[in-house]
Amino acid sequence: MDAATDVDLKGLEEDLRRAIVDAPNLAALDEVRVTALGKKGRISGLMRSLGAMAPDERKSFGQAVNGLKQRVGEALEVRKAGLTAAALAERLAFEQADITLPVRPGPIAGGRIHPVSQVWDELTEIFADMGFSVAEGPDIETDDNNFNKLNIPPEHPARQEMDTFYLKPKPDGSRMVLRTHTSPVQIRTMEAEDPPIRIIAPGRVYRSDWDQTHTPMFHQVEGLVIDTETHLGHLKWCLEEFCKAFFEVDEVRMRFRASHFPFTEPSMEVDIGAEAIGKPGEWLEILGCGMVHPKVLANVGYDPARYQGFAFGMGIDRIAMLKYALPDCRDLFASDLRWLRHYGFAVLDVPTLAGGLSS
Ligand code: DAH
Repeated sequence: MDAATDVDLKGLEEDLRRAIVDAPNLAALDEVRVTALGKKGRISGLMRSLGAMAPDERKSFGQAVNGLKQRVGEALEVRKAGLTAAALAERLAFEQADITLPVRPGPIAGGRIHPVSQVWDELTEIFADMGFSVAEGPDIETDDNNFNKLNIPPEHPARQEMDTFYLKPKPDGSRMVLRTHTSPVQIRTMEAEDPPIRIIAPGRVYRSDWDQTHTPMFHQVEGLVIDTETHLGHLKWCLEEFCKAFFEVDEVRMRFRASHFPFTEPSMEVDIGAEAIGKPGEWLEILGCGMVHPKVLANVGYDPARYQGFAFGMGIDRIAMLKYALPDCRDLFASDLRWLRHYGFAVLDVPTLAGGLSS
């Protein structure tokens, strides 16, 4: 027998078996596995030495080493299963769950609803209670819906005042615009439906304007009511009820000032007495409104002799800032998480008239 086959396989097996049984934990057991079967382990070393042997010798010694390798492997598995079960039993014996502890706040408790979204939901809830449904239109509008059909012809000064964002002209020369107000949703609704109509249309609008009181994107809510006998009294009642519900006060002073919009006649701007938001003595402008202009009714194919109605347009960001005392409108769109954590609303704080709008 030469040096390689001279090895005491029995002795080696006994050593390894003892080490396996004595391993106190899984980490120690793994060390034993590495000394036996790892790349530089003792059994692996023996396997490598087979290559240098004569064929006869290689056969018998190879079988012996293979058998050893298999038995040691089995012993490792058995011990591993035993140690794993023991570790689990120990954890189960010592670990306790204190079910009286409060639930840790999850992502739902950490998230915040943006004040504009909150106010959007609040006003939708209020108008829904008065029987309004919600209408929508696209942010990218035709020049026709945003201006012409609302009785704002191309040369009208209101076009300049609106600081419109125009898209590239199409081959036929017509241009799409980023809608400058939610009023085109009036046109879309009337073209799609017959009276009676009672809708609000909250949405994003765009104007090329950026300073302390203007952002290039902001939010408006449009209102439109068309029927055969709708009059100015309905408009005033409707806006007054809205303001009381929205600002959560029993009385609100309102001032209707004569104004001009191409799509209404007569037209008014509405101020509220600022005591509603804790600033007595001041007036705050919150919306424009009026009776829908007969030309607008004719433009959508309604008979102005038969139908009439009112419309209004209100700045959502504006009334959000008033109600929740937000100092600068640019903060609304700065995506500053500290601001949102401070001014935002709990996710499950869904505004309802029955449960309170903002409590
Ligand atoms: N569209 C107007 C604006 O953006 C607001 C407005 C005024 C809407 C009077 C109306 C209305 O529906 O009747 O300045």
